[in-house]
Amino acid sequence: MKAIPYGRQNITEEDIKAVVETLKSDYLTQGPKIAEFETAFAKYVGSKYAVALANGTAALHLCAMALGLKEGEKVITTPITFAASANCIRYCGGEVVFSDIDPETYLLDINKVRSLLENAPKGTYKGIIPVDFAGRANDLEAFRALADEYDLWIIEDSCHSPGGSFSDSNKKTQNCGNGNYADLAIFSFHPVKHIASGEGGMITTNDKDLYEKLLQLRTHGIVKNDAIYKNSIELAGGLENYPGWYMEMQNLGYNYRITDFQAALGSSQLTRANEGIKKRRDIASNYFNAFKDKPFIKGQSGVIEGHAYHLYVIEVEDRLGLYNYLRSKNIYAQIHYIPCHLMPYYKQFGWKEGDFPNAETYYNHCISLPMYPTLTQAEQDYVIKEINSFYSEKH
Ligand SMILES: Cc1ncc(COP(=O)(O)O)c(C=O)c1O
Repeated sequence: MKAIPYGRQNITEEDIKAVVETLKSDYLTQGPKIAEFETAFAKYVGSKYAVALANGTAALHLCAMALGLKEGEKVITTPITFAASANCIRYCGGEVVFSDIDPETYLLDINKVRSLLENAPKGTYKGIIPVDFAGRANDLEAFRALADEYDLWIIEDSCHSPGGSFSDSNKKTQNCGNGNYADLAIFSFHPVKHIASGEGGMITTNDKDLYEKLLQLRTHGIVKNDAIYKNSIELAGGLENYPGWYMEMQNLGYNYRITDFQAALGSSQLTRANEGIKKRRDIASNYFNAFKDKPFIKGQSGVIEGHAYHLYVIEVEDRLGLYNYLRSKNIYAQIHYIPCHLMPYYKQFGWKEGDFPNAETYYNHCISLPMYPTLTQAEQDYVIKEINSFYSEKH
C-alpha cells in the first residue's frame, strides 16, 4: 500500500488550467482573480465581505489589528488549536488567556469562558477566539450572547471549517464564517485544508468598516481614495484633483497580499468544495461505524451534523504505540494538537501542565486518522483493518 497521509490536497486538470491561464495573463499579483475569489468565497459562506490574504496566520494578525487589540490586553482562546490562533494576540502585544475545552466536542468550553469573565472586573478581557476545531462549528450564537454581556469582540478561527455549520436556537443553519455572530472569521488555504491555494487565507465579515480597514492593512496601510486623503492637495502637486499616482500610507500595515494565480487556484478548488465535504462526511461515517463498539476507542469525532471534517480524531489507549505501528504500515496519522499552553514559548508566561485537564487528557489520547476527499475505500478499509489488528495483537 502506498503511503497514506492524514491529509492531502487534490489538484485537478481544471485547477492547473486556471493557474496557467492566470500565469499567461497580465497579472501575477493584484489582478482580477483575487476579487473573483473573494466574491465567490463570501457567497459560499454567506458573508457580505471577504478579504483574501497570504495565509491564515496573516488573516488572524490583521483581524486582531483591525479590532484594535493593544499591548497588555487580554484575549481568551483554546489550547487545542494550531499556535497561530493564539500567536495573533501576541503579535499585537496582547496577553493570551487559555481556557479549557469541552471533553465531548473538543471545543472551547463556553461555561469555563463564562466563569473567567464572571471572576474578573468588567473590561479585563477584549475578545474571544473560538476555533472550529477539526471542522466542528462552535455555537457562536451562545458565544455572541456572552461576548455582548462583556463587550467583547469575536474572531472565529474557521480554518478547519469552510462548509461547516451549526444549528441556531431557531433551528436555522448558520454557516461558519457567515458573519452573523463573529465580528470576523478567518480561513486557511494550506494544502491540508479543504480548499488549497498553496499558501492562502481569507477573512470574512459583515462589517463594512472592518472590511475597509482590512483592505488597507493588507497592503501597507496605503489608501488610494481622494475622499479620505489627509495631506493637502498642494503636497500632492495637484490644483483641483489629486493626480493619478498619488496615494497615502495612513496606517502601519503589511504586505499580506495573495497572488492572482493562487486566487485562481482557490476559486477553482472552491467549485468542488461541496463535493469534498460530502466525501469527508462519508469517510467520517465509515470510521464511526467501524469503531463505535470498539473498547480501545475512548472517544471519536463521530457523525455530527454540520461538521466539516477537516480532521477525524479518535481518542485511544496506547496512542504512541498505535502511531508508530501505523507508520510501520505506511499510514501517517497525526496528532492535533500538542496543547498551546505547553509550548515552551507560552510556558514562559506561567502556563504549565495541569492547567487544563480536559485539553491535556485529550492530547494524551488523540490521533487524527487519514481524512481527505481522494482517500479511497480500499485505503480507508486498510487503515481500519490495521487499527483493529494493532489492538487485537495487543490484547
Ligand atoms: C486552526 C488554525 N488556525 C490558523 C492556522 C494558520 O493558517 P496558515 O497555515 O494558512 O497560516 C491554521 C493552519 O494551519 C489552523 O489550523
